[in-house]
Amino acid sequence: MKIILGVAGGIAAYKAAELARLLMQESHEVQVVMTKAAEKFVRPLTFAALTGRKVLTNLFAIESAIEHISVAQEHELLVIAPATADLIAKLAHGLADDFLTTLYLAFTGPVLVAPAMNVNMWQHAATRANLDTLRLRGHRIVEPDSGYLACGMTGPGRLADPEAIVEAIGREAHKRRDLAGETVLITAGPTQEPLDPVRYISNRSSGKMGYALAEAAAARGARVILISGPVHLPAPHGVEVVAVRTAVEMRQKVFENLDAADIVIKAAAVADFHLSKVPDHKIKKTAARISLELDPTPDILAELGRKKGGRLLVGFAAETQNLQQEARRKLESKNCDMVVGNLVGVSDSGFESDQNEVILALRTGETIPLPRAPKREVADCIFDQVLRLRLALHAANGN
Ligand code: C5P
Repeated sequence: MKIILGVAGGIAAYKAAELARLLMQESHEVQVVMTKAAEKFVRPLTFAALTGRKVLTNLFAIESAIEHISVAQEHELLVIAPATADLIAKLAHGLADDFLTTLYLAFTGPVLVAPAMNVNMWQHAATRANLDTLRLRGHRIVEPDSGYLACGMTGPGRLADPEAIVEAIGREAHKRRDLAGETVLITAGPTQEPLDPVRYISNRSSGKMGYALAEAAAARGARVILISGPVHLPAPHGVEVVAVRTAVEMRQKVFENLDAADIVIKAAAVADFHLSKVPDHKIKKTAARISLELDPTPDILAELGRKKGGRLLVGFAAETQNLQQEARRKLESKNCDMVVGNLVGVSDSGFESDQNEVILALRTGETIPLPRAPKREVADCIFDQVLRLRLALHAANGN
């Protein structure tokens, strides 16, 4: 592969030399681009000697006046290691004041970012938000390791091992556009069920899992229709977002778009109950106890199970106990091909979290546990299994 290796100015810049060496050893072509600050840690000559190519540093050198455009066009993958908090912020906001950041904006291929920084900088809300922006843009983040940091503190922030970065590059390189030509219909987020014109009932779903699925499907070449309840997430790049509020609205949009879909994934946490007749006026505060009489909402997944035709249908089961039995029961009762089961109510997994640990219950009878991982990686594993399952079901049906 023709790879651009962007090196930013952190103490971990010296590890990028080892990364460049490993990539050369795997017969990749490596073009190193350094920021000004990176040059303070490692001399460009080190990278030039390792890669056999001139290192690009200065946007304003005569010969590089438009070089960032041609370099962007000639390469297949952009790897940034180490990515400092400052560089990540610039990428997130589209600042372009040096060769690397300008090249980034001109580059249209896959981007892999390996951050390295002090633990407090890593955990800072600004860095978290900037990384979320990059993830939503479809970039792969190679999480830093935990351990002793050059600043003397211990915690997450240490650049991932060069070997781990090479492995991530390998995965990125082999990622096929295996959903090209397909339409994937995804629902995400909670629904809000009004009680009166100002109040509603809802749940803690953040929509992150459904949005990660939408992003993964789009990156793999699918047309993606994302029917989303109210969430605080930006629309993933290249995805058609249909905003809805209630379970009834979600049902309507799902069935309006069903004809176009080849794969349907119901990741939304749809409310199970609602007021079927919402009062026109705000309910007045009184000293007396009041009670709400709620009706069940339409079960969209069950209806999809009856009307899915040849489509592959994936449901979700958020459970607080008996995960495997519940996932399997839902698979059967709602005629799904796969149910993604996750335990909710446990810390750092499920609702609101960036990570998820799920099991996949398949129509073939298999149950596959996936290791705890960022939701974007879980999303890719779900699509790997969806495609494998579809082949298995076709083979079983003899077509
Ligand atoms: O049975 P339960 O509601 O726990 O099943 C969860 C699955 O069903 C999720 O895939 C969710 O999107 C879907 N669902 C639905 N319509 C509802 C409730 C849940 O499609 N009214």
